Amino acid sequence: MTVDYALLTNRDEVVGYLSLVGLVDSLASDAADVTVREVTAGNMNRVFIAAGPLGSVAVKQAPPFVQAAGPEWPIDPARIGAEARAYELLGRLVPDAVPSIVHVDLDRFVMVMEDLSALEVLRDELVRQVQDATAGRAVSYIDFGGVGDVVGRFVGELSLATSVQLLGTAAHEALVADSANAELCQLTTEVVLDEPFRAHEHNWWHPSLDERVAGLYKDAEVQAGVALVRERFENAAEALLHGDLHSGSVMIGSTPDKTQKVTVFDPEFSFVGPIGLDLGLFWSNLAIASIAARAAGHDGLAAAREDAIEASWQAFVEVWDENDSVTFDDDFFESVRTDAWRFAGVEAMRRVAGWSHAADLESLPSDAAPAAQRAVFDAARHWIVAGTAAPLTLTDDPTSHDNPGATP
Ligand SMILES: Nc1ncnc2c1ncn2[C@@H]1O[C@H](COP(=O)(O)OP(=O)(O)OP(=O)(O)O)[C@@H](O)[C@H]1O
Ligand SMILES: [Mg+2]
Repeated sequence: MTVDYALLTNRDEVVGYLSLVGLVDSLASDAADVTVREVTAGNMNRVFIAAGPLGSVAVKQAPPFVQAAGPEWPIDPARIGAEARAYELLGRLVPDAVPSIVHVDLDRFVMVMEDLSALEVLRDELVRQVQDATAGRAVSYIDFGGVGDVVGRFVGELSLATSVQLLGTAAHEALVADSANAELCQLTTEVVLDEPFRAHEHNWWHPSLDERVAGLYKDAEVQAGVALVRERFENAAEALLHGDLHSGSVMIGSTPDKTQKVTVFDPEFSFVGPIGLDLGLFWSNLAIASIAARAAGHDGLAAAREDAIEASWQAFVEVWDENDSVTFDDDFFESVRTDAWRFAGVEAMRRVAGWSHAADLESLPSDAAPAAQRAVFDAARHWIVAGTAAPLTLTDDPTSHDNPGATP
């Protein structure tokens, strides 16, 4: 494929770009003093940190393909526009919970934003906590209730401000049209809602799931649940979403006065969809992290991680409840909660039986992995089929699909 805009690939190109758009002066009085390091970690884009004596910024560029796959997997780079649009709104709604945006360039599909390097990606911290606990090292403290509170408020404020209830029909319809993100929605359909539930070359799984995965593809209850989730994903244009709110889209650290700082980033999958999707993705990844901690023998850590789920729900409900200018149906919260658990289910299933797995599980010691894999699979199945919470307990039964440990 031909690329008709210049891709940033090295230090000089990044510094040259920052000079061109007038941003290098905020980093150094002499461009020669600016250093650049690449921090690309995900699948989709390239990210660089440019730093000088006066300051630093993060520079994210969307290539016209999936970065990890290369030009043979083209995808619309305008996704960075969806991300910028979401941040524009979020910067006003929850400024403390998102990075500030310095510059958006929709010709070269670049966004320059606040450098968050002082924080850690939550997923990395979750993995590290279990590894430290297992090795007998001190475990860093995370206030999981506080993490859930920030994420719940993030989802609450974003969904409320972009809901039909608050905007009215005409403005909401305009938002739906402006926020279309077709190619990334298609990607979610493929990797979350389709491939994990049928035989597909992308799928792989731990051998302890052989029997379960063989049953999954012909499991009528699961297939019906997934069809429901898909219907909601495609048709429930309720509010603007983050769209990819897993533990790799949250950073955590502390402020200079030692209070916990939680930042949500990477809303490039943003579109107008079912509100429960964002909560469900977050719940799923925290639940997986809880199961991982329990499988490694750290029950206290496992329980603490579950606090994030309940706290995010409470914060979400509070935002909607406390706003006097909107009215909503009696069953609104129940509908969001059911959607959330079903989305948690498809997300968890793809993390054990789809393409992109959870580092929390992949990093477990080999003796802890089978029970964790099975517990995640069984919880995922329950969430998809029932649309309700399931206790995150381990199972002794290596084969049963109806593991009593993971059903209420
Ligand atoms: N503002 C920032 N400050 C510091 N580091 C950042 C910033 N934004 C992103 N990063 C780093 O770059 C990595 C990739 O960023 P991001 O998740 O936005 O890219 P992505 O290509 O969209 O990822 P994915 O494919 O997982 O969606 C992050 O995990 C983080 O380590
Ligand atoms: Mg991304």
